[in-house]
Amino acid sequence: MTEAPKTKLRSQEWFDSPDNPDMTALYLERYLNYGITREELQSGRPIIGIAQTGSDLSPCNRHHLVLAERVREGIREMGGICFEFPVHPIQETGKRPTAALDRNLAYLGLVETLYGYPLDGVVLTIGCDKTTPALLMAAATVNIPAICLTVGPMLNGYHNGERVGSGTVIWKARKMLATGEIDYKEFMNMAADSAPSVGYCNTMGTASTMNSLAEALGMSLPGCASIPAPYRERGQISYETGKRIVQMVHEDQKPSDVLTRKAFENAIAVNSAIGGSTNAPIHINAIARHIGVELHNDDWQNHGHKIPLLANVQPAGAYLSEEFHRAGGIPGIFSELMKHDHIHKDAITVSGKTTGEIYGDSSVKDYDVIYPYDKPMMKDAGFLNLTGNLFKSAIMKTSVISADFRARYLSNPDDPEAFEGKVVVFDGPEDYHHNINNEALGIDANTILVIRGTGPVGYPGGAEVVNMQPPDELLKQGIDALPCIGDGRQSGTSGSPSILNASPEAAVMGGLALLRNGDIVRLDLKKGEANVLISDEELAKRKQALAESGGYEFPEHQTPWQEIQRGIVDQFDEGMVLKPAVKYQRIAQK
Ligand code: FES
Ligand code: MG
Repeated sequence: MTEAPKTKLRSQEWFDSPDNPDMTALYLERYLNYGITREELQSGRPIIGIAQTGSDLSPCNRHHLVLAERVREGIREMGGICFEFPVHPIQETGKRPTAALDRNLAYLGLVETLYGYPLDGVVLTIGCDKTTPALLMAAATVNIPAICLTVGPMLNGYHNGERVGSGTVIWKARKMLATGEIDYKEFMNMAADSAPSVGYCNTMGTASTMNSLAEALGMSLPGCASIPAPYRERGQISYETGKRIVQMVHEDQKPSDVLTRKAFENAIAVNSAIGGSTNAPIHINAIARHIGVELHNDDWQNHGHKIPLLANVQPAGAYLSEEFHRAGGIPGIFSELMKHDHIHKDAITVSGKTTGEIYGDSSVKDYDVIYPYDKPMMKDAGFLNLTGNLFKSAIMKTSVISADFRARYLSNPDDPEAFEGKVVVFDGPEDYHHNINNEALGIDANTILVIRGTGPVGYPGGAEVVNMQPPDELLKQGIDALPCIGDGRQSGTSGSPSILNASPEAAVMGGLALLRNGDIVRLDLKKGEANVLISDEELAKRKQALAESGGYEFPEHQTPWQEIQRGIVDQFDEGMVLKPAVKYQRIAQK
């Protein structure tokens, strides 16, 4: 047990406030009724919350129910007292219409919990895609000592002796089903085999990305991100995390001490090196806004684009979570990036030490899985931030586009060649699914597929649909990807040459709302531009006509929260945050 804190603990306002015996008694008695003693609650011990995201509804995070036992033991070991409580469930694959709708709802709920209850510090149990940003955003707003604990990825999946990664396998199996290569039963078996144990997606999708970036931001203990959920080290780091949060309360180390501009730049560099998900800029920009750090999509290009891809992990590479962990995980990635000065070594982390101190001795154990910086899997692998007359900002993940496309349109800055194609436009995912095989649309190898009505307002929360598959006819000819543009998101586990998160979206009259089938769009990746080749006058005319007809139409609200969020949500480039929430910063200190 460590020494008693020098300053008064926040929880003492509830449980140990001598000038206010009535309220103290009221607060205390109910917390005693299951066996905690008054001595425990009044002896100046930190009260530590475990924000529990695991449940039967949230299978990716369910193992946290088990890990929490080790967290509790760590908290007790250091003299703290643990209050575990549930967080609104967010299951990426199970929540309709999309789990992204619930990120901000879980955020709001957790802000109220952290602010309104007697908590001195909190362990954030992160895992499935949106759980990580939701919890970090709330910790940023409230700003009590907080540490992340990753639940860990699943073990590798294998099907017929080959690695099958969760999420990624679905994209592949869908194509095989469409071409008749496999039947329904085989399709289901491939999916099941990709998810062989507790934990979250074993690919470098949004979950692995966000947990990696939580570590890169300095918000979890070193090495925490990559340990597979069933490994013994996962239980061990849970215990260490429980111990550390108690010390953090004694040291009064808050999220605002860790989540600095330098920490965000470190996260951007790591994101490129791991081939991270395009959902990352949305979530990381949101965390930055809630802690009050300026961060924009330009920063992702400026600090991230020139960083090479090092992690040979699906969907950009070949391996899965177990190999990534054994090869060194995020500490391995840090070690390579630090050799080339892409990491701020003085950024403080929840361990109490700087990144330079904790990752200084790290190394890569298998260069087939984590490539050396000097001989990377791919150079310049970070995101591009595109702009033009269709949107103010849209993200392109360059690490998954084909070598051909890259060589022709991106790699040689002296070659002015740009991609031009006629667009076929879909209004939302239903339109796409119903009509992609409609021959009358004339989709060919030079088509750009556009999907709109899929941003935070149009499809509440934003639909993960921009990764559109070409028509079956083209698939049979071996054309397995077309350039796509959309105001929605893309699953972190897919790999088509997409321009996504276009902001502002069609539903708020962004440029995509004005596109018509057959318009020619020019993608000049070297200049970072995407433009429809029609005059400003014509665009203005179309805009006026659309406004007069009542604006871009989107589906009705299905739930109260959909309506509430649609009224106050910001665009993807601004983190899709709830606009009125941003002004509430560091509220535990007020
Ligand atoms: Fe939950 Fe991938 S679906 S982590
Ligand atoms: Mg997803």
